Amino acid sequence: MSDATIASVPLYTNLDRIANELAARGIGPSDPIPPEQLFAIDQWHYHGTDAIRAAADHLLLGPASRVLDVGSGVGGPARYLAHVTGCHVTALELQPNLNALAEDLTRRCGLGERVTHRCGDALTCSLPEAAFDAVVSWLAILHIPSRPRLLRRLARSLRPGAGCYIEDLAQRAPFSDRDLRDLRQIIFGVSVSSIEDYIGDFHAASFTDVEATDMTQDWSAFAAARAAAWRAGHTDYARVHGEAAYAAQEMFYDLIRRLYESGSLAGVRLTARAPLAPIASQWS
Ligand SMILES: C[S@@+](CC[C@H](N)C(=O)[O-])C[C@H]1O[C@@H](n2cnc3c(N)ncnc32)[C@H](O)[C@@H]1O
Repeated sequence: MSDATIASVPLYTNLDRIANELAARGIGPSDPIPPEQLFAIDQWHYHGTDAIRAAADHLLLGPASRVLDVGSGVGGPARYLAHVTGCHVTALELQPNLNALAEDLTRRCGLGERVTHRCGDALTCSLPEAAFDAVVSWLAILHIPSRPRLLRRLARSLRPGAGCYIEDLAQRAPFSDRDLRDLRQIIFGVSVSSIEDYIGDFHAASFTDVEATDMTQDWSAFAAARAAAWRAGHTDYARVHGEAAYAAQEMFYDLIRRLYESGSLAGVRLTARAPLAPIASQWS
């Protein structure tokens, strides 16, 4: 029986690393933060702000856009989108401590008018109907146990024809027993499926123009380089953040590298459009 919880995922522990990084740049706990100073440390996905810029361009976001970010973490993507496009982002995050940190960082960046943080479970929280011009999500849906239900809810919260842009983990080949255990318990990857199944869930939720890009090769190389860079920076990182914080992240980054190298883990980018007509199925 697993006692894994999402809060124990190494990425979501040792959150004082953000304050430590800011302090190392001369920014104290209550100081204003130039947004650019945060972008190197608040993006918890592949390729940092380049990935977010690609989404903004694809979705044609601008100051009038209302965007829902599912699984917003400490708010990096939401702040970047608001900062570079002027759009309004509702940043939805499950974990209260991450949400509180995100809120504080957003306020200190002066982006509080354009980013609204909400703490809640994307599967159950109230979502307004036909309210958003776009929904985005980076590396979050793997944690959410019912993807079909989530996608139905997102389809209803988008205005008809609005865009959806998601990056997530997927499965290329069956995981070994050990890898599956690590995926579930350490990464909390509870809904990692084949790319084909992911596409099927979009269609079942009445999305149209569903397109999937297999990111595996790119992300596998990224994960290998990240794990190597992490080890190379051991001494410097441990000096600022402590050995335990270093070790937790090393284990996490090395596990992800190993899962790609095993041939089982995949990465995927999915884009789609919300249905043009109201959905007949029951709202859930
Ligand atoms: C890997 S982090 C990525 C954060 C952010 N998207 C980024 O790229 O920087 C995934 C986030 O999804 C959040 N999450 C997981 N399940 C969720 C749910 N049911 N509702 C809302 N957020 C959720 C986690 O708490 C975590 O902060």
